[in-house]
Amino acid sequence: MSDIAKLQIGDNSYEFPLVKGTENEVAINIKTLRGATNGVITIDPGYKNTGSCESAITFLDGEKGILRYRGYSIEELADKADFLEVAYALIFGDLPNKEELEKFHSDIKAQSVVDDDVKKIIDAFPKTAHPMGVLSSLTSALTAFNPSSVNVDSEEDMYKSIVRILGKFPVLVAWTMRKKQGLPLNYGSSSLGYVENILKMMFEKPNEEYVMSPIIKNALDKLLILHADHEQNCSTSTVRIVGSSHAGLFASLSAGISALWGPLHGGANQAVLEMLEAIKEDGGDTKKYMAKAKDKNDPFRLMGFGHRVYKNFDPRATIIKAAADEVLNDLGVNDPILEIARGLEQEALNDPYFVDRKLYPNVDFYSGIIYRAMGIPVEMFTVMFALGRLPGWIAQWKEMRLKKEPIGRPRQIYTGENLRDFTSIEKR
Ligand code: ACO
Repeated sequence: MSDIAKLQIGDNSYEFPLVKGTENEVAINIKTLRGATNGVITIDPGYKNTGSCESAITFLDGEKGILRYRGYSIEELADKADFLEVAYALIFGDLPNKEELEKFHSDIKAQSVVDDDVKKIIDAFPKTAHPMGVLSSLTSALTAFNPSSVNVDSEEDMYKSIVRILGKFPVLVAWTMRKKQGLPLNYGSSSLGYVENILKMMFEKPNEEYVMSPIIKNALDKLLILHADHEQNCSTSTVRIVGSSHAGLFASLSAGISALWGPLHGGANQAVLEMLEAIKEDGGDTKKYMAKAKDKNDPFRLMGFGHRVYKNFDPRATIIKAAADEVLNDLGVNDPILEIARGLEQEALNDPYFVDRKLYPNVDFYSGIIYRAMGIPVEMFTVMFALGRLPGWIAQWKEMRLKKEPIGRPRQIYTGENLRDFTSIEKR
């Protein structure tokens, strides 16, 4: 293949260089397009064909169902690594050795205390507040408690901000849930691992010693790993674009949390469970809901199905489906919702509407079932996704700042009124 793309506009032709990735993905570099063509731009709503950056963090091939973080396959990471190792690899480029991991963990633990005044902010939220809104606000509020903005030219400063947010974020997550449940806001223990502490902080009762279930700990490790990064998705692109204005790390992450909240993105895990519950309440008639999903006059979509980039299968969904079976079996949970989910999946996989549009279960079709078996309230599901995605957002923000990328600022094609005269209010 030539390494030049040719574009013909009217009588003029232009040439643009091709950019090739390490997995042979190809892009046309149109950096000079507007200048060379006297104002022509590209338009691509939803950025379905637009690459926003070159990145060395995550590779995915939606046609083949491949997902790799820093070159490591998601299957191997989910099977062999723990979440903190994966977080380190995403943020720093390689899996850590034993000393590096120990130092990383101990630096995070040293930052795992939140200013007590944050409790006052939490107190001000009504108990009915959605945890994603609370978490986004609290993450933004951390900026006020740690005001110095990150000096990205200082490796030490960058590292401090990273361990600070990795230490404090699980505390905010646990406190967000506990406040809703009327439980005292607690802390983890320096003798426990990162994921173990998340569970302790979330589930410890004030009058009982928390006993860790290895089944639940392993399942959470896996879920967090599977959600840890997914290249330039909606929330990650948000983090990068907010950070591109040189807003700080915490402010950028807070924006990413808001982007993740939507039901077309991370909010899908909550929406899936609510949908499965609704189908159960309605008598379990999956065919009725399949018909609704296919009816173009009905806004209902089969939540947990379809993906912008996976057009064969979502490799994370395959791992999660097996994990859901395992966890429910190990915990002895018999959840009728799982039967409804299996029924819907089977029908969709054999239905021409879904097959033709390449709509397969995504990562969130089964994750909610595991979260529910763990005792996590439905409203917290997307918060758990945010907890997993945190290292990915950090890695992407760090990469963007270190590469000194320009401020993200797309253009548009204007379709409004042409110049017209102002009419005074009396004459309108
Ligand atoms: N149920 C029914 N029909 C669907 C679904 C669905 N879940 N998803 C897509 N379609 C249909 C669309 O109506 C469209 O049909 P048409 O070609 O006849 O108009 C076609 O499939 C293509 O859909 P788009 O919306 O154009 O695909 P896009 O890539 O923009 O959207 C998305 C992907 C948002 C994930 C979509 O599939 C969806 O809404 N799924 C349900 C929500 C969900 O599960 N989101 C989680 C995504 S994973 C994540 O963020 C972690």
